[in-house]
Amino acid sequence: MIEEYAQRGIMLPRSREALRRQLRHFVVAEVNGKVVGCGSLCRLGSDLVEIRSLGLREECKGLGIGSLIVEKLTEEARKQGIPKIMALTYAVSFFLKNGFRVVDKEIFPEKVWTDCVNCPKQHACDEIAVLKLLS
Ligand SMILES: CC(C)(COP(=O)(O)OP(=O)(O)OC[C@H]1O[C@@H](n2cnc3c(N)ncnc32)[C@H](O)[C@@H]1OP(=O)(O)O)[C@@H](O)C(=O)NCCC(=O)NCCS
Repeated sequence: MIEEYAQRGIMLPRSREALRRQLRHFVVAEVNGKVVGCGSLCRLGSDLVEIRSLGLREECKGLGIGSLIVEKLTEEARKQGIPKIMALTYAVSFFLKNGFRVVDKEIFPEKVWTDCVNCPKQHACDEIAVLKLLS
């Protein structure tokens, strides 16, 4: 799933090795025992996590599964005592619907040093930053 979206420029590619290392930070959605969606949390600092690799199989979109994955990841961030959760995305209205707001990308310096350095769009990033404060 991630690879398909990466080829379409919607997600960053993840190697099998990187996925294996990050596996404990992932949640997946299953329908009838088949994985149909995923999403992960990446720690960007002491008070901030990012939602990464959020995507569903085409045929499972629009059923509320993406929102459930975001809810689960948010719950996990809350459990860890992290007050801010963000994403870089093209799916802005989806995140607005899930309680995020659009913010200036420049407020996330940590992000630049972790993932963006390897992104082909690094100097022409057109993704929108969204943020939710957790209480
Ligand atoms: C974005 C995505 C995770 C949403 O999951 P989903 O299960 O389809 O979404 P839900 O059913 O929970 O919510 C649907 C709502 O989100 C909105 N939405 C869904 N996909 C959207 C998109 N690509 N852009 C903007 N809004 C979107 C819809 O307008 C819908 O609102 P409505 O119910 O008022 O019509 C899913 O469509 C997907 O995998 N997209 C491709 C990968 C991607 O863009 N990932 C985000 C990277 S951060």
